Amino acid sequence: MTLPIRIAPSILASDFSRLGQEVGDVAQAGADWIHLDVMDGHFVSNISFGPDVIKSLRPYTDAFFDCHLMIAPADPYLEAFAKAGCDGITVHVEAGVHLHRSLQTIRSLGKKVGVTLNPATPLSTIENVLDDIDLILVMSVNPGFGGQKFIPAMADKIRAAKALIGNRPIELEVDGGITAETIGAAATAGANVFVAGSAIFKGDSVDTYRQNISALRSAAQR
Ligand code: DX5
Ligand code: ZN
Repeated sequence: MTLPIRIAPSILASDFSRLGQEVGDVAQAGADWIHLDVMDGHFVSNISFGPDVIKSLRPYTDAFFDCHLMIAPADPYLEAFAKAGCDGITVHVEAGVHLHRSLQTIRSLGKKVGVTLNPATPLSTIENVLDDIDLILVMSVNPGFGGQKFIPAMADKIRAAKALIGNRPIELEVDGGITAETIGAAATAGANVFVAGSAIFKGDSVDTYRQNISALRSAAQR
């Protein structure tokens, strides 16, 4: 199954003092999804923002809110993120003991269900939940910070994930170190959703964001 190429700017790299405007600007500049990196200072060693901030951003665009939860435990907060207006919620394999239950909870909240793998997390950890998910996120850096380097070995993991997905309508997303130089390897391997923070939010105008997004899109299409 071929799903469309989607560019998902991570607002982690945006100007936090003007978050609403940044979301509006990047959507206007051609973002397909808005990637929301939630960090708790426990699962990862950084703290970002939570459901109340996401709720305040919801009026700025109708674009799909792709929420990447880097928090543990995640279960107690899933409902709050759903109510805040996230369209998809992605949890890490290691976020709790009962991954299948977390995925069921996201489904029951009416949201797209995502699961994500750290660079060292084997693909085999999700083999038994493939029919319960809408999205696999392959981390191509260790989560916690923007601006890190793409780990080249993750292209092989994306390729293996693509094979595992088979004909299922599952989005295959890659996150970390995506630039016009690295996106091609991820696309060739089979990813269709590309998160990019620093590569998109360099510069500070809608026009620059538009150029950055279209450079990524054309490099992914090649
Ligand atoms: C890392 C986050 C990423 C990050 C990507 O923990 O999940 O979404 O913001 O940033 P860049 O594109 O700068 O690597
Ligand atoms: Zn992310």
